[in-house]
Amino acid sequence: MKYSKPEVEKKVNELISKMSLAEKVGQLNQIGGFSFGQGPGPEEQIRERGAGSILWLNDTKRFNELQKIAIEESPSGIPILFALDVIHGYRTIFPAPLAMASSWDPDVPEKAQTVAAREARAAGIHWTFTPMVDIARDARWGRIVEGAGEDPYLGSAMAAAQVRGFQGDDVTGPERMLACAKHFAGYGASDGGRDYDPVYLPENLLRNVYFPPFKAAVDAGCATFMSAYMDLNDVPASGNQFLMRQVLREEWGFEGFVVSDAHAVGSMVTQGHARDTKDAALRGIKAGLNLDMSSYTYTKGVEELVDEGKLTVEEIEELVRPILAAKVKMGLFETPYVDEDLLEQVVNRPDHREVSLWSAQRSMVLLKNEKNLLPLSKDVKKVAVIGPVADSKTAVEGTWMVFGHEPAAVTVLEGIRNKLPDAEVTYAEGPEIKRDIPSWFQARREGDNPKPRQTSEEATAAIQEAVKIAGDAELVVMVLGETHFMSGEAASRASLDLPGRQEELLQAVAALGKPVVLVLVNGRPLSINWAAEHIPAILEAWQPGSEAGNAVADILFGDVNPGGKLPVCFPQKGSHAPLYYARNLTHSPESSERYNPRYWDGLPVPLYAFGFGLSYTTFEFTNLSVSDSQMKVGETLTVSVDVTNTGDVAGDEVPQLYIHQKWGTDTRPMRELKGFQRISLEPGETKTVEFELGPKELTYWSANVHDWIQDTVTFDVWVGADSTASLHAEFEVI
Ligand code: GLC
Repeated sequence: MKYSKPEVEKKVNELISKMSLAEKVGQLNQIGGFSFGQGPGPEEQIRERGAGSILWLNDTKRFNELQKIAIEESPSGIPILFALDVIHGYRTIFPAPLAMASSWDPDVPEKAQTVAAREARAAGIHWTFTPMVDIARDARWGRIVEGAGEDPYLGSAMAAAQVRGFQGDDVTGPERMLACAKHFAGYGASDGGRDYDPVYLPENLLRNVYFPPFKAAVDAGCATFMSAYMDLNDVPASGNQFLMRQVLREEWGFEGFVVSDAHAVGSMVTQGHARDTKDAALRGIKAGLNLDMSSYTYTKGVEELVDEGKLTVEEIEELVRPILAAKVKMGLFETPYVDEDLLEQVVNRPDHREVSLWSAQRSMVLLKNEKNLLPLSKDVKKVAVIGPVADSKTAVEGTWMVFGHEPAAVTVLEGIRNKLPDAEVTYAEGPEIKRDIPSWFQARREGDNPKPRQTSEEATAAIQEAVKIAGDAELVVMVLGETHFMSGEAASRASLDLPGRQEELLQAVAALGKPVVLVLVNGRPLSINWAAEHIPAILEAWQPGSEAGNAVADILFGDVNPGGKLPVCFPQKGSHAPLYYARNLTHSPESSERYNPRYWDGLPVPLYAFGFGLSYTTFEFTNLSVSDSQMKVGETLTVSVDVTNTGDVAGDEVPQLYIHQKWGTDTRPMRELKGFQRISLEPGETKTVEFELGPKELTYWSANVHDWIQDTVTFDVWVGADSTASLHAEFEVI
C-alpha cells in the first residue's frame, strides 16, 4: 500500500501524540540480536518501551515472535524494523560489491540486489545495511571489497544502482527493503588502510571524491544512512554535525534516518571524544543521529538529558519521526508479520541462480592472455586444479555472509568438473593460507577451537603433492588468492602479496613448463608481480558468489567472453598504497624528462591500471570528436567516439571518458572518469558511443574559494579502454 506524504505525516503525528518519552527513546534504540552481553534481552526491552529496530537476527520464526510482543505487549504497539547486512545476497549469493563494480554495468548490482531484497524480505528482514559506498584508494584496507573501488564517478553509478535494486521505485513493495548508504563518511581513507583508524580529509577531497557516491544514494532515494566508526578530522562520524546536519540534511535534503555503526554512539567515550555515556548520547542527538546501534547509550541517557533541560522533547521527536515514517511507508502497521512458508519458495527460484551466474560472468576481469592461451579447448583430457581456494565455498562466496548462512557455492574445481564431464580433473589444495591474526568475525565463525595451523613441513609436503599432481596433467589451473576472512571488516593487511606460500607453489608448478592459467579469488588488488611476468593467462574472478565455479569455467573454456574492467588499480607493493589514477600532475610529472622517481627503489606504477581489462577479441577506438570546441559555463557538449570490434568473436568493451582541466582556480587531477558505457559488439561491428559533458561533470568544490565552481578553461578529453587512454581531444569553456 503506497501512502502519500501527508498521510504518512498524519499517521506519524497520531503515534507521536500517544507515546511517552520513554517510548520515543525506545524508537531511537536498535537492539542487538546478540547483545554482546549488554542490556536486558530483547523481549524485556520491547515490553518496556518498544524498539526502533533489531539487528543481527536471521530467524523468520523469531522475527514474528518478537514482532508479536511489540504489537501486543509494548505501550504503543509500534512494529519493529528487522535489519541485517545483506551485502551481496541473502541465500543466493552474488559477486562481492567490488566484483559487481568490475562489471562497469549498473544493471548487475541493480538486478543482484533486487533478488537479494526479494529473498531477505521473504525471510522477514525489512532493512539492509547496504550499499557500502566508501571510496577506497588503499588496497591494504580490508573493506575495499565491500565498495566500488577508487573512483567517485563509477562509485556513484554503482551506489544508485544498488539503491534501486533494494528499494525499487516503491520501498513499500513486499519484495523491497530499506537500503542504507554507509559508512558516512570517509571511512576508507585511514592512514595505511588501517581499519577503524582516524581519517583526515580536507573539505575539497570530501566533497569531490568521498561524498559523491553518498549524494548519488540520496538522489536515488536511499531511505537510510549509517554513520562511520572513525574520527573524521577529530570528530567521530557518529557525533558529527557537519556530516549529518549540514551536509546530509541541510544541503542534500535527506529525509530518512541515520543509524550509527555498531556501538558507535557509546564508542565516542572510548574514542576520547565524549566524557561519559550521557555526554555521548547528547552529542549523538545534537548531531542528528537517529538510531543508536546496540550500544544502548540513548536508552541510558536521553531521558535524563531531557529532565536536565539539555535536550528538548521536540529534539527527540524530530529524530523519531523518520523512523516511524519508514515503518508506515513499509506497511508494517498493516502487515507486521512474515509468512514463514514463503522463504523456501523464494530462495529456490531458478532465475535467482541465473542472475547470480550472469553477474559473476560480467564481473570477472581478464588481466593477461599471452598468445591467446585462453579460451581453453574443452577437448583437454587431463586438467589439474590447484590452490588453497580452488575448492573453497567460503572463499568464493566471500565477505559478509549473513548470519546463519551455510555456504553452498559452486567452487572453481566443481565448475571445471561440471564443464568437462569427460575429462580427468585432478585437484591439490597446496599449502594452507591463514591470517596471522584472526579477526573477531573469524573467531566467532570458527569457534574457540580453530583447526591447528599447518606446520611448515606439512605445507612443504602439500606443495610437493601439488607439483606431482600438476606434473601428471596436460594443463594446470591455479586458483590462488585470499580466504573470505582476509578482506572485509577488521581485515586490513600491510602487504598485498599472495598470502602464505602460494607464490612458492605457483613458481614450483610453473617450473614444470606446462600451460598454466591463474584464477584469482580475492577481495582486494594483489601484488602478483611474478605471475604478471611469468604466467601466460590471468583471470581476476574476485569473490564471485553462488555460481562462482560455473562462471569461471564458462570464461576459461570460451562460453563467455570476459568484459570486466578494474575498479581499482593493482599496486606492485602494499607500500605503494594509497595508489590511484586521479592524481595531480605536480611540478615534476611522472612522464616528464625531469621525472624524479617517486621512489628510487622502484616506480610506483600500477601492475594493472584503473579501468583495465582484456577480452578474447580486440577493439579499436577512432573518430573521437567534440560537438563544440568551445562552450559557455553551464552549457553541455557531446563527445563521440567510434568503437570497432576488430577481432573474430563477439565481445564487450567499456569505452571510458576521462577529462583533465588544464589549469584553473584549483589544480585538478590529471585524469578524472566522467563517462562510461559497456557495449557489446559483433566481430567487425562499429558503434558510435556518445557522452555528455556539462556543469555536472565540470563543476568541482574549490579549496580556494570554498564553494562549487566551474572554471572557464581548456580541457583535455581522452576516450579509450582504460585510464591510460591516448585518443585525445580538447574543448574550451569560455
Ligand atoms: C559492522 C560494520 C557495518 C555493519 C554493522 C552491522 O561493524 O561496520 O558495516 O553494517 O556493523 O552489522
